[in-house]
Amino acid sequence: MTALIHTLLFLCFHVFVSSTFSSDADFYAALNKVVDWVQHDPKCVFNKTILDSETIKSFPDCETVFAIIVINENTDLTSSQIKKYFSKLVWITGGLRVENSNLTDLAFLPKPEKFTFCFYCENYGVYIRNNSNLVAGFKLPAVYISGNEDGKKNCRFEVENNPKLNAGMMCNGTYLHTDTDIKVVGNLKNCGCTPDVVTENCLSEFAEKTYLAKGLHLTKLNDTNQLIYLSNVNQITGAIDIQNTNARDLSFLKSIKNIDFPSVSSVVFNLQNNPEMTRFALPNISSINIPEGTKLFNFENLHPDFCLTIEELIQFFFRHKISFQNIHAKLCNETGKNSSDLMMCGFESMNKLPNNCNIILGDLRVEAGDEMDIVKLDSVYYLFGSLTIRNTKLEKMENLQNLANVAYFGIHPVIQIHSNPNLKEVVMPLQSVITRDNRDVIFQDNHPGILNSTGGVCGFTAVSDAHLPKKSDLNFIGGDCGERVEINRSSYKLDTITILVFLSIVMFV
Ligand SMILES: *[C@@H]1O[C@H](CO)[C@@H](O)[C@H](O)[C@H]1NC(C)=O
Ligand SMILES: *[C@@H]1O[C@H](CO)[C@@H](O)[C@H](O)[C@H]1NC(C)=O
Ligand SMILES: *[C@@H]1O[C@H](CO)[C@@H](O)[C@H](O)[C@H]1NC(C)=O
Ligand SMILES: *[C@@H]1O[C@H](CO)[C@@H](O)[C@H](O)[C@H]1NC(C)=O
Ligand SMILES: *[C@@H]1O[C@H](CO)[C@@H](O)[C@H](O)[C@H]1NC(C)=O
Ligand SMILES: *[C@@H]1O[C@H](CO)[C@@H](O)[C@H](O)[C@H]1NC(C)=O
Ligand SMILES: *[C@@H]1O[C@H](CO)[C@@H](O)[C@H](O)[C@H]1NC(C)=O
Ligand SMILES: *[C@@H]1O[C@H](CO)[C@@H](O)[C@H](O)[C@H]1NC(C)=O
Ligand SMILES: *[C@@H]1O[C@H](CO)[C@@H](O)[C@H](O)[C@H]1NC(C)=O
Ligand SMILES: *[C@@H]1O[C@H](CO)[C@@H](O)[C@H](O)[C@H]1NC(C)=O
Repeated sequence: MTALIHTLLFLCFHVFVSSTFSSDADFYAALNKVVDWVQHDPKCVFNKTILDSETIKSFPDCETVFAIIVINENTDLTSSQIKKYFSKLVWITGGLRVENSNLTDLAFLPKPEKFTFCFYCENYGVYIRNNSNLVAGFKLPAVYISGNEDGKKNCRFEVENNPKLNAGMMCNGTYLHTDTDIKVVGNLKNCGCTPDVVTENCLSEFAEKTYLAKGLHLTKLNDTNQLIYLSNVNQITGAIDIQNTNARDLSFLKSIKNIDFPSVSSVVFNLQNNPEMTRFALPNISSINIPEGTKLFNFENLHPDFCLTIEELIQFFFRHKISFQNIHAKLCNETGKNSSDLMMCGFESMNKLPNNCNIILGDLRVEAGDEMDIVKLDSVYYLFGSLTIRNTKLEKMENLQNLANVAYFGIHPVIQIHSNPNLKEVVMPLQSVITRDNRDVIFQDNHPGILNSTGGVCGFTAVSDAHLPKKSDLNFIGGDCGERVEINRSSYKLDTITILVFLSIVMFV
């Protein structure tokens, strides 16, 4: 009878052990293989078939421990309890099996003071399998898992069937593998990284890369610390799509120099649903190269304060003639870098405007009595605000012949030319008009011949053909073009908070 009980006990024991080792003998054989291979201090060998509250008491007090650490369903320890015994540990020669355990994390591996935590597992491996409650990865800066150089004794690194574990970060980067055979499958998230395709699960694989050949696609990313892996990238070929992340800006692309977007009419640069994103902040923006061609961007549903600086607008969006599907942005209060010979002026009135402004900040209004001052506009290249010419006696408006770029983030029509009974022509070489909401251009109650100079088409006289924006780009309305519109008094109101500044500074070489 006692023999039977013993047999049953043996069988039970045998059955549960089989999930890791088929017998104690197998375990000892495996451990012998590990220790025979290397010089070792016998005091630093952990020779126990399982790690539990009893066996852990004999865990060696060594920096390098020779062991196959088995944590399974019979391990009655939590990660933090294990950690206390592992405080001195820096290297494990041998391996680790965490199988069918109740562990919720692997944070028991200590963080060494000076270097990476290392597994030398050429004669064994690291197996993390069937742990139903395991959620976090190693909470360590880096784990180094090394096999044998000759390739015959590659370490196995298998992370399998942990339904709550995001194992994406185990594939490489944080986990440095040399001569290991990696298998990461059946977890909440796996490596799933195809070479060259940047996704949130395999950012670490790009730590050394300078070139992204298939664009940059981050469609969910909570751990923005991972973005540091992209800091060496200097060239991207393909579209950029950053959605549903916590990224605050694009400053993580620290080395970006060249972006070669696909030649498509659809969006090639999408920033969407990034609720913490307040800035664009692509570094060194004036030296980023983009080949000629159509470039449609979409900035949608970002932080309500998301803003673009004047420097970014001039040195990137205008320079590369970028157009937008949506631009949920404002103009930043800061201008960006001040380093050139362009003079920026805050607009209050034509009367108060200095001569020689190159950049006007604020809604530019030319009104009754301003006729003599319009020469002040002769060298305006950039307008950050709307343009209104109304109630003047002007016959021809030629002083905006350098105004090629307008960015306006307000709600009113971007341009209004109305109630100028003598005005027959407006000369303006508009190239790039960026607006947040309203692309209306109103022509109304001007001289009846105002469309003669443009051949009957509602618009501006170009300085040269190349300068005319596509007709579809702006929405020309008003009585001179067709149906009359009601011109709202509210849009006369000074609607910028940005005009507070009066700046006459030197910027943008
Ligand atoms: C993990 O679970 C699967 C399916 O339940 C089983 O086939 C496998 O043997 C288990 N592996 C270990 C090491 O327990
Ligand atoms: C581990 O313990 C077993 C049983 O006591 C023994 O046979 C084996 O030699 C030991 N292995 C090592 C490496 O100490
Ligand atoms: C593991 O968790 C289950 C369910 O919470 C519990 O019944 C079991 O006793 C735990 N096992 C150990 C070894 O702590
Ligand atoms: C990531 O893994 C791939 C394939 O497993 C390997 O070629 C690449 O060198 C690894 N990258 C890093 C940074 O370890
Ligand atoms: C990101 O975090 C939020 C809340 O912290 C959570 O609801 C969401 O599921 C997480 N997303 C991912 C992809 O981990
Ligand atoms: C910015 O780009 C210029 C021109 O390529 C380069 O000389 C400069 O070092 C870059 N600055 C930074 C901060 O990367
Ligand atoms: C600019 O400053 C004003 C007043 O300080 C503030 O109300 C506004 O939100 C700021 N705009 C941006 C884009 O930060
Ligand atoms: C640019 O110059 C203006 C006015 O001199 C100043 O307020 C602003 O802080 C400067 N910006 C930078 C980025 O230096
Ligand atoms: C505009 O053109 C029409 C027809 O070509 C002509 O009748 C009219 O006099 C012109 N108006 C002006 C102001 O040149
Ligand atoms: C004027 O306001 C009305 C009603 O608010 C609106 O329907 C109309 O489009 C506005 N007109 C212009 C030119 O903004």
